[in-house]
Amino acid sequence: MRKPIIAGNWKMYKTPKESLAFLDAFLPLVEAHTRDEILLFPTMSSLAYVLEASEGTNVNAGAQNMHWLNEGPYTGQTSPTMLVSIGCRHVLLGHSEQRLYFNETYERVNLKLKAAINHGITPIVCVGEMLAEREDGRTEETLRHQIRASLRNISPSEARRLVIAYEPIWAIGTGSTATPEVAAEAHAILRHELTQCVGEATAENTRILYGGSVKPENISELMRQDGIDGALVGGASLVPTTFANIVHY
Ligand code: 13P
Repeated sequence: MRKPIIAGNWKMYKTPKESLAFLDAFLPLVEAHTRDEILLFPTMSSLAYVLEASEGTNVNAGAQNMHWLNEGPYTGQTSPTMLVSIGCRHVLLGHSEQRLYFNETYERVNLKLKAAINHGITPIVCVGEMLAEREDGRTEETLRHQIRASLRNISPSEARRLVIAYEPIWAIGTGSTATPEVAAEAHAILRHELTQCVGEATAENTRILYGGSVKPENISELMRQDGIDGALVGGASLVPTTFANIVHY
């Protein structure tokens, strides 16, 4: 029912040339792979190149962020219409690095989510607690709040294409992955809150990805958990063979 997604978030790595070299090596390694959807999230300067080079393949690409308006005096921003104009149909929203370093808020994620829906762009909304929140026993409260704030005034049919990525901040780039049990527990909290917000049918169809130090060595066990519908991979998505091994979990 929920086709898994294996996504690579390249963050602020790879020039266009390096991105195309990645594709040259990676595409043959995953050719004919249909079990999972494969997505790459390059930087804005590489995105159009990656979209063009992956056209007609089983690999697709998206943006790491976007503004919610179509145009305006907003230096440094890219709009949904601009993304659509280069054939981009996926976007990451609310990544923790945007929240931590660039003051991203879930109020804005909500505006961006509405804009993505209106433009036919598949949004991947990132949520996840900080270490202090987990240690204080506030994981559930934090995740529920993040889902509620993201989905404010969004109807079940609008949320049809929504994807969620659970990325506990303490697991990102630290090498310490959430155990499959800890991840599965968080995914269950998220799906429960999704049910409250957009109803059971939509919540059951929503793919919830895990992110945070995913590697070839730990992907299989994560994917065996009920309710984990894929992975959002940072560091390990930068090397073609490593990322291909993750795709082939
Ligand atoms: P790492 O896989 O490098 O921990 O990064 C996870 C992440 O932030 C993906 O969006």
